[in-house]
Amino acid sequence: MPFDPISMKLTTSFVCQECGYESPSWLGKCPECGVWNSLREFKTQIFPRSGISLRETKFKVEQGKERLEEIKPKTLGEIKSSEKERLSTGFSEMDGVLGGGLVAGSVILLAGDPGIGKSTLLLQVGLNLSNNKSVVLSRQKVAKDPIGLQKKEREEILLRQLADQNDKGGNVLYVSGEESVEQIKLRALRITASQKQKEQFKLLSINDTDAIVEVVEKIKPSLLIIDSIQTMESRAVGGMSGSIAQIRYAAALFTRVAKTLSIPTILVGHVTKEGMVAGPMILSHMVDAVLFFEGEKATNTRILRSFKNRFGPVDEVGIFSMEEKGIKEVKNPQHFLREYSNKPSGSVLASTLEGTRAFLVEIQGLVVGSKLPIPRRVASGIDVKRLELLLAVLQKNASLPLATLDVFVNVAGGLRLTDRGTDLAICLSLFSSLKNISLVGTVAIGEVGLLGELRTVPYLEKRIKEAKKLGFKHIISYNAYKTLNEAIRSLAK
Ligand code: TYD
Ligand code: MG
Repeated sequence: MPFDPISMKLTTSFVCQECGYESPSWLGKCPECGVWNSLREFKTQIFPRSGISLRETKFKVEQGKERLEEIKPKTLGEIKSSEKERLSTGFSEMDGVLGGGLVAGSVILLAGDPGIGKSTLLLQVGLNLSNNKSVVLSRQKVAKDPIGLQKKEREEILLRQLADQNDKGGNVLYVSGEESVEQIKLRALRITASQKQKEQFKLLSINDTDAIVEVVEKIKPSLLIIDSIQTMESRAVGGMSGSIAQIRYAAALFTRVAKTLSIPTILVGHVTKEGMVAGPMILSHMVDAVLFFEGEKATNTRILRSFKNRFGPVDEVGIFSMEEKGIKEVKNPQHFLREYSNKPSGSVLASTLEGTRAFLVEIQGLVVGSKLPIPRRVASGIDVKRLELLLAVLQKNASLPLATLDVFVNVAGGLRLTDRGTDLAICLSLFSSLKNISLVGTVAIGEVGLLGELRTVPYLEKRIKEAKKLGFKHIISYNAYKTLNEAIRSLAK
């Protein structure tokens, strides 16, 4: 069904600029988020829903009367599931997060802080696909009954299919509303591109939503990238680019085109502090998957996490590293231990979980005398409030005199830890620094409770296995000790 914007109804609505709440009339205070004077008037277009609409239902003329043709619900068994084919992004880490590659016609929102590397990642995905390196991951079943065919016929079908698969790779359209094509080319020069990639990769620097749809309908790309949804603008809607009505309109239009033409589409969305709700997150119910690209800007580790995924798991993570020449995948779990060797006191390994994968990371603690009336507590890679809490427990439960000392904690390698299973490692690194006892090669796993008790953590066995796999045998966990004090006493001996 071709897309027909004229058939959409135009209505007026009032949308809260803070949270996206919509009301048919103006209100002084938003009933959803409580902010005053935040509702703005918008002309919005109503999109027909999927499924059978009233206009499409068939009428039968029977015995002189018009009667609705019977609409029959189907049982699950009657519905033929077409095995969705998936296109590889060229990054196995990203394919994993997507649940096995890009599904035809799916719409993915890639959200993240400005400057984190979203454009770079997608440029590389585009180039990967343009290289025809990509393969359709789950092949459609060969013909209907290949066994009944002659060997030669079978081979021919397979060859034809492989040719199809390669065709699917090329023809990527990258639309940027933020940068000129020259700027994107400059970026692409940092990432080496082959002649073939240069020929196949198509760029467009434009932010007119409707014009983009026209181009997409004409060239039918194998992958459409929109960078970013906040810069898209249409004359059919009121408000500037970035306003909620514009974002919604653009997302609805691109989703529609993606579904009707079966084009996988990736929308980029910047997340700002207040934008978490008002920005791209208002789209989360419209798209098939929401991926977050995260990391500390000062370090080069980046994590791709799925927040919602209709075609895959949500606990997968992909780990990347931002390098001088573009983004590289981190497949080796020892990546975070590159600089780990014989350490003086203050270093303990934690076995942490990202999604369902266990990783060893080095926690560094430093404890020194303070000249300040209120000693310093500085944390990088963990929450400073968590550090303060652990310090209080160390003082009370393990009687470590930390109240008048400056305390610094750092997670080496640039990971940001929110996993409570790393509590014990943080505590032991501080103990090690305070007492000048080297704990090199020690892996600590456990959550520390307020009363100094050790708690078991999810996937304890998996974390222990990862440590053993990398050759670390000295593992301190809930399995051996029940309180923080016991664990520390065992090391002080
Ligand atoms: P970018 O992809 O523009 O971020 P986003 O689209 O999320 O806003 O990334 C910009 C940063 O990445 C910038 O600080 C430069 C850095 N960068 C590299 O470190 N290596 C590279 O190869 C490229 C292209 C960028
Ligand atoms: Mg960008």
